[in-house]
Amino acid sequence: MKGVPLNEKLYDYIVDTFVEEDDLLKQIVIDSEAKKIPLIQIAPDNGKFLYLLIKMINAKRVLEIGALAGYSTIWMARALPDDGKVTTLEIREKHAEESKNNYRKAGLENKIELMLGSALETLDKLQNERFDFVFIDADKENSSNYFDKVIGLMNKGGIIACDNTLKFGKVVDENPDESTKGILKYNKKVAEDAGVESLLVSISDGLTISLVK
Ligand SMILES: C[S@@+](CC[C@H](N)C(=O)[O-])C[C@H]1O[C@@H](n2cnc3c(N)ncnc32)[C@H](O)[C@@H]1O
Repeated sequence: MKGVPLNEKLYDYIVDTFVEEDDLLKQIVIDSEAKKIPLIQIAPDNGKFLYLLIKMINAKRVLEIGALAGYSTIWMARALPDDGKVTTLEIREKHAEESKNNYRKAGLENKIELMLGSALETLDKLQNERFDFVFIDADKENSSNYFDKVIGLMNKGGIIACDNTLKFGKVVDENPDESTKGILKYNKKVAEDAGVESLLVSISDGLTISLVK
């Protein structure tokens, strides 16, 4: 293996040097814990990476699958120009309500639309929309189904990013669980799909990014 294996000290160096997680984002995590919302939001460096990708491609329309309490949604919405918009899909009412509270606190309620319901069904209602950037971070079993539903909605030069694609190392297990099988299917699909160029970036728990041709 070439490169430097990451350890706690190196990770802290990267985050301390490059990642500005403000009080609002920190408070989302604190409030989530108090309200017993699972602490499965992306890590701050992952948030900064999504933010940068969105800026790099001048994205205006962002779709997120899996809002939780709005942590990643806020990172992404902050990267958008004034006329940009994030549409985020969430199945759990409790998460949706907390997300909306947080969008208000961030002053981003006009830039973010949350659609409540099962993402596979909600995606059928978005077939006339076009997106520059999609972030897939919901039920891992369905990750490749989400790719199939969104690939036809992408603008050329857009990016699809999918989270947890290392599955905390389980992608190389001999007997992967169902959720890991979903991720393995996703990674294989986007590695082989001729319509995209992809790479699994080993940031946090793995983020597979696909550039739409
Ligand atoms: C990992 S969390 C999302 C974390 C969020 N992206 C962040 O980093 O702040 C996954 C979210 O997807 C939601 N979810 C799970 N299955 C879903 C489905 N079928 N449709 C829509 N949302 C779903 C869960 O309720 C949960 O809030």
